[in-house]
Amino acid sequence: MKKRSSAWVVNHGIWHLSLFGRVNLAPVPSNIQTALDIGCGTGSWVIDFAKAHPDCQVTGADLSSIQPPSPPPNVNFVVQDMTTAWTCPHRLSYIHSRTITVAIKTWPALVTECWRSLKPGGWVEFQEYHLPFTSNDDSLKHGPALQLWNESVIAAAGQIGTNMDAMSSMQPLLEEQGFTSLARIATKWPMAPWAKGEREKNFGLLAEMDVGDATEGFGLRLSSGGAKKRSGSPSGSDVVWAQKPHDVVD
Ligand SMILES: C[S@@+](CC[C@H](N)C(=O)[O-])C[C@H]1O[C@@H](n2cnc3c(N)ncnc32)[C@H](O)[C@@H]1O
Repeated sequence: MKKRSSAWVVNHGIWHLSLFGRVNLAPVPSNIQTALDIGCGTGSWVIDFAKAHPDCQVTGADLSSIQPPSPPPNVNFVVQDMTTAWTCPHRLSYIHSRTITVAIKTWPALVTECWRSLKPGGWVEFQEYHLPFTSNDDSLKHGPALQLWNESVIAAAGQIGTNMDAMSSMQPLLEEQGFTSLARIATKWPMAPWAKGEREKNFGLLAEMDVGDATEGFGLRLSSGGAKKRSGSPSGSDVVWAQKPHDVVD
């Protein structure tokens, strides 16, 4: 449990660097009233978002009750399986997920649940990693072992019904559901501390720790069928967001 928690601290640090300290990229108004984080884990994103939006009531939902006992007053945590019909608050202004790709087998159902739970004008945002790794300088061809690991994890995930590159088909899914103002960005993650510049070095150090943990744990767990456990955050991520139109009649 301790190792898993510290892995989540690393994951949080990576996302913090990756998004230059921003907690959301969707253009959520500063005065929103209600937000939800799907699969909130230790609640670190929830708490950061709640601090940045003190007038917003932020709910973090997870299968596990592993969040701090005394969160900020505008935070509440609920234990819920988010792949079943949600009982947590509806008429939300903003719904967010981060690093839950390995846990979701039916993204269409999740997108429908987001649509149902958002009020018109509300935003949804997925901050997720993907496999296979990609590189902008072709350097992956020098790492055939990494490539093999990629392929093995993708295959093992596929066997239990998980798509490790789910975000690549997220935009059509959102569009089909009725969402508009869609956007997607890919962020680049240096994978080792020899990257140039202080930010990149710190980033690379965290990414190296994360991928080290992932290669040891994530691959093994997936290949032994235990995909409910923690995932790693390999080289790069996709952030996809979209808006439920204001003029929708619910
Ligand atoms: C890798 S952690 C990410 C935690 C958090 N989103 C973050 O970025 O720090 C994935 C989380 O998803 C949760 N999870 C997995 N399946 C879930 C489900 N069906 N419903 C709710 N939470 C789930 C796990 O319990 C775990 O806390």
